[in-house]
Amino acid sequence: MIPQSFIQDLLGRVDIVDVVDRHVKLKRAGANYVACCPFHSEKSPSFTVSPTKQFYHCFGCGAHGTAVGFLMEYSAMGFVEAVKELAQSVGMQVPETRSEPEGRKAGGGVDLYEVLLQAAQFYRSRLKESPRAIAYLKDRGLSGDIAKRFGIGYAPDGWQNLAAAFSDYDGPLLGTAGLVKSNEEGRRYDVFRDRIMFPIVDVRGNVIGFGGRVLGDGEPKYLNSPETPVFEKGRELYGLYQARRAIRDAGRVVVVEGYMDVVALAQHGIEYAAATLGTATTPLHVQKLLRQSEEIVFCFDGDEAGRRAAWRALEGSLPQLQDGKQVKFLFLPEGEDPDSYVRRNGREALEALFGQAAPLSKFLIDSLAGRVDLGTAEGRARFLHDAKPLLKQMQANLLRVQLLRELGEKCRLSPDEVAQLCELAPKSAAPRPPGPRYARAAPTPLARALLRVLIANPSLAAQITAEQRALLDAAELAPVAELIDLLREGAVASPAVLIEATRESPHAALFQQVAGETLAGSDDEQSAQADWEGAFLQLELVRVRSEYQRLTAGGALNEAERKRFQELSRRLAELKGAASAAARPEA
Ligand code: GTP
Ligand code: MN
Repeated sequence: MIPQSFIQDLLGRVDIVDVVDRHVKLKRAGANYVACCPFHSEKSPSFTVSPTKQFYHCFGCGAHGTAVGFLMEYSAMGFVEAVKELAQSVGMQVPETRSEPEGRKAGGGVDLYEVLLQAAQFYRSRLKESPRAIAYLKDRGLSGDIAKRFGIGYAPDGWQNLAAAFSDYDGPLLGTAGLVKSNEEGRRYDVFRDRIMFPIVDVRGNVIGFGGRVLGDGEPKYLNSPETPVFEKGRELYGLYQARRAIRDAGRVVVVEGYMDVVALAQHGIEYAAATLGTATTPLHVQKLLRQSEEIVFCFDGDEAGRRAAWRALEGSLPQLQDGKQVKFLFLPEGEDPDSYVRRNGREALEALFGQAAPLSKFLIDSLAGRVDLGTAEGRARFLHDAKPLLKQMQANLLRVQLLRELGEKCRLSPDEVAQLCELAPKSAAPRPPGPRYARAAPTPLARALLRVLIANPSLAAQITAEQRALLDAAELAPVAELIDLLREGAVASPAVLIEATRESPHAALFQQVAGETLAGSDDEQSAQADWEGAFLQLELVRVRSEYQRLTAGGALNEAERKRFQELSRRLAELKGAASAAARPEA
């Protein structure tokens, strides 16, 4: 865990305008900055960044958040990753670092990323000089534009070509980067020789490794960078960086098996594809992909290896499934891969297949059923036995309920019996805290009004009285109460800090939404004060009125009740007078 105090310091130092502007060019518009929204397609800018509030809000699609949230959304980073990135940009050290990539420090202060980038540039320049390599790419149907988009290069034949690009060829850094090895006599040599080079780029756009393909037949066909301090195969996907924008536009990401598949699809206008790096799909991969899109289509070859890869992808997906997100599987006809298929049949045919991909539940049930004879008791028992470890990995969500039903039908049991036999924890009633990303909560208008004033003017929380605080104990005002209590603990300096401090709250989505709305309003302190007092007046009015009504509805009053009634009548009259005075425009 990163301490909340650190997040506060960090948000005090970074400027969201700089952070966003690094990725999306902003234009000044009054007190704010605007741009066309990177999270949906639009022609006129409704994406707004507030330098005073330190957050962004899109009036078109409702995307919103702080600098941390922006990086998480835009670059598909996790929370910790985004915080680290920001901290680094302002020279702060994140406390309590776990086993994280240490690329910036490896090799005594020289940058591993720098070395990899330089190598990529070197390979690119060599491609331009190699008619043979160019011919190979052309022969595979690739244009110069696509080669450029993916930074494709060529590692020339020869043992020490990189020595021309690096003065420190014998230093430790090239070895750490996985670019050179040493032979038995300790002589250095290049790992990649006479290969087409595909740079692997992380979500921030850093080159972190390479895949190298032989130009014709040769073994191994592909040579991949080893894992290094900056390259972990289980978390990276080839092409994801280039695909981000298209994934958002398409609402879908397609996962294929090979470098060439990704590149060939882009060549044919399907830009929302990425590939795992010759490894099985991990839950981390799936998590990363589901952060960026609602739908994953795993598109694999129809052969035995493709089926195995798909099954691993299914296993990697189970712990990550959320309601509202879809994971699908598509098997291409025998002998085809996405590259050959799109070349032969074109974009539309392949996209039509994506549309017909089988949902995860179908793939799961069909695969399990295919292994047994469901006509026998033994087969049905085996079926359930195989399903159990898979079901156990799933969250208790709507999909699991559906799956239990379908599995039950196959093996002649009720969904409850299946759940019991598979030792599943009961389905929890409460949804998981943060909920869907831009879900519309439905708090009362009054609660919203209070939140709006409070988020724009956090200092108001300090002046709340005990009686006022008591008025907030109603369930529908819980978000307001939570925010006030947080603000009164102190140390929440800006709306952005507030948003980050409440990231785990059940009301997080509401806070962010209301914070976004405040960008459209004016920041007049006086009217804020008036709104604030008006809202509490209204709350009190409601409370007093309902007590008054309760007393009068009960028939004859006893002595104590009569006194209480008189007090309430007086209070109600006072409040009504005050409320109408508050409602009158100033003279
Ligand atoms: P092309 O023949 O260039 O079309 O390659 P492909 O993309 O069709 O490759 P294939 O389906 O054979 O392999 C898919 C992925 O597996 C590749 O992109 C590599 O990441 C990986 N891979 C393939 N062959 C090798 C190999 O010989 N060694 C290693 N380490 N990885 C390989
Ligand atoms: Mn291929």
